Amino acid sequence: MELKNMEKVLNELLLSAKNDIDNANDISEIDEIRIRYLSRNSELTNIKKNLKNLSNDEKRIIGSLANKISNSIESELKIKHDKLYTRDLNKKLEEEYIDITLPGIGHKYGKLHPLTQTINEITSIFEKMGYSLVKTEDSPEVETEYFNFDMLNVPKDHPARDMQDTFYTNVGKNVVLRSQTSNSQIRAMINKRPPIKIISPGRVYRSEAVSARKNNLFHQIEGLLIDKNITFGDLKGTLNEFIRLYFGSNRKTRFRNSFFPFTEPSAEVDVECIMCNGKGCRVCSGLGWLEVLGAGMVDPNVLGNMNIDTNEYSGFAFGMGVERLAMLKWAIDDIRLFYNNDIRFLKQF
Ligand code: DAH
Repeated sequence: MELKNMEKVLNELLLSAKNDIDNANDISEIDEIRIRYLSRNSELTNIKKNLKNLSNDEKRIIGSLANKISNSIESELKIKHDKLYTRDLNKKLEEEYIDITLPGIGHKYGKLHPLTQTINEITSIFEKMGYSLVKTEDSPEVETEYFNFDMLNVPKDHPARDMQDTFYTNVGKNVVLRSQTSNSQIRAMINKRPPIKIISPGRVYRSEAVSARKNNLFHQIEGLLIDKNITFGDLKGTLNEFIRLYFGSNRKTRFRNSFFPFTEPSAEVDVECIMCNGKGCRVCSGLGWLEVLGAGMVDPNVLGNMNIDTNEYSGFAFGMGVERLAMLKWAIDDIRLFYNNDIRFLKQF
């Protein structure tokens, strides 16, 4: 082949390679193009192999041209390879994009129901005064009339049974849903001899129309203390101290005469209205006082029922409504809010 011809072939190879490189749109084509133009069997390599058959002058001219063309194809391939590689990488990064500045999905912590908080607060006040917390299994919600009424000095035909009309079950004779936590007094006296000093929270039931003030399920906390030389003065001191700790130190209290079948004498305890400080308002029905609990000296008939010697022992008992105490403390005006499980209500406590 003539020199001119060889130069033409080489320049055409370069053009064709550049054209292929330009058109390459996938990184795998880069390798194919390299094989096509630069491998051992390529035309360019053949020309280089045949250099030995040329004259010295031709060797110099064609040799250097062939090398220049190889280098040029090689560097064009590298540029195009890098371009396609960057393009693919960017595409991949875009597809896998994670916005690390987005706030994460936080876990919300639950908290105790306001009634549970109230029960815990009240029982812990009494625990600090030395009362033992009665376990749920020692003070059942499904109870016999015997523990709920009979042993508490509420005879069958006594009007107090109507006042605490509860739900009767068909699991057995005289089995009821307890109407008061006072059953735990009897259970405690059966299980243990004096001195007895217990605090017993739990659910109670009444067959009554549901309203803003009343629900047919609610919670009470019962207290019982039996020991030697216990007087009404001990009862007053204990409950005044409880009210001071629960409602605040300068809240006035008053003890009113009342009647409960299982205490004699009996009292209802009022605190000065937390809304109007005794002036009289809608919450206290203009009275200036709010009733918070019932209490009294344990009736000798009850102690007698339990074979506790009334010459040696006396005691006092008290019972309070948990919902009522929570409503007074937090100024909640509808008891049903406690049972609806509306998160907007619950998260305020
Ligand atoms: N059990 C009574 C009720 O549900 C409350 C009560 C009053 C409990 C006086 C007592 C007490 O222990 O001494 O209305």
